[in-house]
Amino acid sequence: MCGIIGYTGNRSVAGVLVDGLRRLEYRGYDSAGLAVVSGGELHEAKAVGKVRKLEEVVAALPGLGSLCGCGIGHTRWATHGVPSTVNAHPHFSNDRKIAVVHNGIIENHQELRRHLTSKGCVFRSQTDSEVIAHLIAEAYDGDLLAATAAVLDQLQGTYGIAVVSDRHPGLIVAVRKGSPIVVGIGEGENFVASDIAALLAHTRQVIYLNDGDIAAITPEKIELRDIRNVPIEREIAKIDWETGAAEKGNYPHFMLKEIFEQPETVENAIRGRLDHEMASAILSGIGLSPRELLQIGHIVIAGCGSSMHAGLVGEYYFEDLAGISTSVEQAAEFRYRNPIIEPNTLVIPISQSGETADTIAAVREAAAKGAIVTALCNVVGSTIAREAGRGIYLHAGPEISVASTKAFLSQVVVLLLFALLLGRNRRLSRSRGAELVAEIEQIPDLIREVLEQALEIKKIASRYAHVDDFFFIGRGCLYPTALEGALKLKEISYIHAEGYHAAELKHGPISLLDEKHPVMALANDIPGRDKILGNIQECRARKAPVVAIATRGDRAIRDLTQDVIEIPPCSRFVAPLPTAVALQLFAYYIAAERGCEIDQPRNLAKSVTVE
Ligand code: AGP
Repeated sequence: MCGIIGYTGNRSVAGVLVDGLRRLEYRGYDSAGLAVVSGGELHEAKAVGKVRKLEEVVAALPGLGSLCGCGIGHTRWATHGVPSTVNAHPHFSNDRKIAVVHNGIIENHQELRRHLTSKGCVFRSQTDSEVIAHLIAEAYDGDLLAATAAVLDQLQGTYGIAVVSDRHPGLIVAVRKGSPIVVGIGEGENFVASDIAALLAHTRQVIYLNDGDIAAITPEKIELRDIRNVPIEREIAKIDWETGAAEKGNYPHFMLKEIFEQPETVENAIRGRLDHEMASAILSGIGLSPRELLQIGHIVIAGCGSSMHAGLVGEYYFEDLAGISTSVEQAAEFRYRNPIIEPNTLVIPISQSGETADTIAAVREAAAKGAIVTALCNVVGSTIAREAGRGIYLHAGPEISVASTKAFLSQVVVLLLFALLLGRNRRLSRSRGAELVAEIEQIPDLIREVLEQALEIKKIASRYAHVDDFFFIGRGCLYPTALEGALKLKEISYIHAEGYHAAELKHGPISLLDEKHPVMALANDIPGRDKILGNIQECRARKAPVVAIATRGDRAIRDLTQDVIEIPPCSRFVAPLPTAVALQLFAYYIAAERGCEIDQPRNLAKSVTVE
């Protein structure tokens, strides 16, 4: 998944592009580049590595940094072709009069490359994206928008594209199909980007392109066409993110900032959604009446990574609180295995970015089979949010760190609210509903209590910063929490960490345990604690060091383990939330001790918009 930015106006183009790319770096960062149209010429700069490398290249090119006009920039997460300057975007036509940046995958690029090569095109890169520049050049007949529109039916796959040419000063053409493109509206200047984080510093008025939309953007106007080149209208949306929401502030990493934001982001997820009168939840975005909610006979949750882990917690909620059979699917698996959708099946895609390709495909598969689809997303106006047509926003604000923290927590909270609503729609009593409402209102303070232990957790984490392996084990809702804790550790510290159901250890994984192989045991005082005690003893019998998450004051756990992170007392439904915060901090401090990148781990991208 890559980051795209475009600017047209009378400011220094390169400066706006580089600043925008820096705010998009979490989308992909193995190389970056830009092209500027100024004075009838097309200028370029590219670099391998982070955007700061590109900034150095721009500074070294005389005059480039002060050119006005228009331009496009790109920060790359490689899908085809190694990270290199030649593979970095923008890609150019052979006459170097057209430059293109692309986010997505052109699935028929090999066939197009053969066709273009046979007609004399010379390719410089190994990327799929370069074919777009040559196709537009081949179709160009004086109108850049028409030439771009003319090639789209040859492209199979997904694309968010921005195009400039030295023959069209001030003009950027942008197209969207399957990869997000948003146009930013300025005063005497306009912008285009792959997401709003790059636009926040300049404008709050944006237009989200739909699949098939083409935009012709100049400083004075924004023209929208459909794929048949017919003019269309799109709504202007207002971004309500706080200024600075996409900034690090005084934190060393976005991840730490986002971990510490969680009391507020959970409050945002809950705000206006608890019904004290009915001891239930209010989730108007679902768009289903109580009668329609009552018709739901099965729930399928689809997501990837942390979003899937949140779904696995939600499975316990829906079955235990609402009595509705629920299954959780890895989104890529759901889309390809011909899932069974009954007339009363509710499909809940979960996606922070709302742009994960596999989850988008799951949404389309579910809709095509007639399921009711209700999405949980964080990014307003994202593809999944719009295609699902109904759902619940997390209101967690921009999550910049590649490792998901606050979004995961808000997903779990929203799923708990949803299960409360469905439960009260069925056999959950008013009194039990009222208890749950009270527990949910307590969650922000529980998180604050864990955050207050950050230094204690840092001390414990430092003892494990140089291990090579880690197991995370849990039971009930704490089993998916263990999966999430393992994912956090592995993705930012590069330690090989695995999550297991605690009962699973003795079915194989325990063979790996020895004095060098620690285990994180989620031993909160909820049902299953006594069994976990036994699992801890099994680990200790193999000399494995055990770190435990335990409910404050639990002496038995403390006596059995090397290190204990204490969590305030809470119910089995709420336990995943403060526990996840402790595991986020544990992973963060280990990665920090190991000097890892943390916000932008190697090989990863914030949203995987390719299969
Ligand atoms: C989470 O820490 C990971 N970065 C990753 O697993 C992420 O949760 C996954 O790619 C899904 O992203 P989404 O929520 O934006 O769909």
